[in-house]
Amino acid sequence: MHRASRNRLRTVGVLLGAGLLAASLPSGSGAAEPSPSAGAKRPLSGPGTNYAVDDAFTSDRTEAWRQDRFGMFIHFGAYSNLEGEYTRPDGTVCQDAEWIMRQCDIPKKEYEKQAATFDPAGFDARKVVKAAKDAGQRYIVITSKHHDGYAMWPTRANNWNLRDHSSFDKRRDILRELKTEADRAGIKLGFYYSIWDWHDPDFADPATFPQYKKRMYAQLKELVDDYDPALLWFDGEWDADNPVNRWSPKDGAELETYVKGLKPSLLVNNRVGKRRVSDGDFGTPEQEIPDGPVDGQPWESCMTLNGHWGYARYDHEWKSPAELIRNLLSTAGRSGNYLLNVGPDSKGRIPHESVSRLRAVGDWLRSNGQGRAVYGAGYSGLVEKPEWGEISREGSVSREGPKKLHAAVTDWPEDGKPLHLKARTPFEIRGARVLGSDQKVKVTPSGDGFDITPSGAPVNDTATVIELSVTSPAPRHGSGGGLKARIWDNDAFAGRPAVTRTDPSVNYAWRFDGSPAPSVPAGRFSTRWTGSLQPRYTDTYSFTTVSDDTAKVWIDGKLVIDSGEPHDPRVDKGTIALKAGQKYAIKVEHRQQGGEAHMKLLWSSPNQQQEIVPRSQLYKD
Ligand code: GLC
Repeated sequence: MHRASRNRLRTVGVLLGAGLLAASLPSGSGAAEPSPSAGAKRPLSGPGTNYAVDDAFTSDRTEAWRQDRFGMFIHFGAYSNLEGEYTRPDGTVCQDAEWIMRQCDIPKKEYEKQAATFDPAGFDARKVVKAAKDAGQRYIVITSKHHDGYAMWPTRANNWNLRDHSSFDKRRDILRELKTEADRAGIKLGFYYSIWDWHDPDFADPATFPQYKKRMYAQLKELVDDYDPALLWFDGEWDADNPVNRWSPKDGAELETYVKGLKPSLLVNNRVGKRRVSDGDFGTPEQEIPDGPVDGQPWESCMTLNGHWGYARYDHEWKSPAELIRNLLSTAGRSGNYLLNVGPDSKGRIPHESVSRLRAVGDWLRSNGQGRAVYGAGYSGLVEKPEWGEISREGSVSREGPKKLHAAVTDWPEDGKPLHLKARTPFEIRGARVLGSDQKVKVTPSGDGFDITPSGAPVNDTATVIELSVTSPAPRHGSGGGLKARIWDNDAFAGRPAVTRTDPSVNYAWRFDGSPAPSVPAGRFSTRWTGSLQPRYTDTYSFTTVSDDTAKVWIDGKLVIDSGEPHDPRVDKGTIALKAGQKYAIKVEHRQQGGEAHMKLLWSSPNQQQEIVPRSQLYKD
């Protein structure tokens, strides 16, 4: 069943393409994080190339997207013309949505025939953008080409597109219209693009796949050059047999480098590769929300409003506004984004059931400043998630301790009963108020945390937000310059190192052909970083590595991460209690024994949001 294979959840990796300069943070918020080779001329491929050029958790490049938190997904294509139902020659009806061509075994000629009648004259970009705006959504991702291969813009690569193969007005270009309206409204536009292609005869045959790839690259160049998207959202990267799909990690690495070469600031999701933590800039859990912050890579959860992505006229299983609001709160409270889908009908109109639900979410976000629990918000860190709601902290990307937490209460207590919050680290709550109400809120230390007792009724039945003003320790920013790196051109740290230098951070994606230095051939090398580490907070820290082939991390003489068995890109974690401002010995080892190579070192703690351990907190001795 295709659904099983397509719904494999992966969470996933940080990364970046060639040619980007590292972002710097506002002064006073810690040190800038130049890429290891910033300033120096770096090769675009081959030995010495590091494809990771910034930290997706903190960079300027990803910042707007991380703040936005809420986007609109649009599934619209030649399949929309069937509205989810295909009547076979024998009169029986087969149902599906954007997979209808394959799931209902529609012969190619038949599918082409129906597409020729596609006339989405009712597509109104202004209305679409308004629906997003009314929902409080800050970006839009529309399918430019789904698995059926049908392009929704007048591509020059083939005739299988909305202008050349439809009954639609030849002068219109809906992606252009959407771009214009989105720009006008200050909404970012991104394009979904399926790698898997059921229509192009060159896709499934390894002998002709290079020709397909050429056209795919040409189409992506058209999209980037002509519409200047903020992000590309790939899909269809998984192995499949009908038609054959053998997209490989290497294909993914090449494609990511290619599109980021076209536009270095582009954001790209992890399905550009094989949905691993090392692919693209962000992970893409589908139809589900991870139960906490995700290790190793920012993430965005995509979800349908009913049970289908594409329009299905028979599907009336709509999620309630309350469920959508709760989902959005859960996502923001775990430092993720929520990409909520609409599927326009054969005329190009978003169903009113979708529009009204979206508006209800937007109404909630706009009421009483409740949007503060979502926009720019992230994982609270300071407290455990309670049963009665979701907690987020303001300033998910700020390096300063949070000044406010927002507790979105979905289960309001009976009169006089407290809401309990379990603290993960010591901090104080200085004040509390209910957004949209002047009722008093009592806060008392209690057991492992605090009791918060509102005195009145909830403001909103779905979620009422209590703003908590908190005092958490001021960060102790360091003045480090990075770790000492010794690099060997063998995989055993044997003999004299080929290169010795200072690395600002451990943030490397060498992938298939890169290596730590031009003089070190790809494929076989080892690196040992040493020096000291200075935490900003007194906390129990989690260290995370994203590595391939092996990784080990010692802090204060303790082996915190022991991932010495060769592996494909993966995440490992270890914890250790540390004191703010104190310096601890650190040693990090990586070995590359062939194939792909990655090595990143991240940290997080109750006070510290997840990020690549920055240069300011690392010293070479
Ligand atoms: C999938 C599906 C698809 C949908 C997408 C959204 O993998 O194949 O139809 O477009 O996920 O995330």
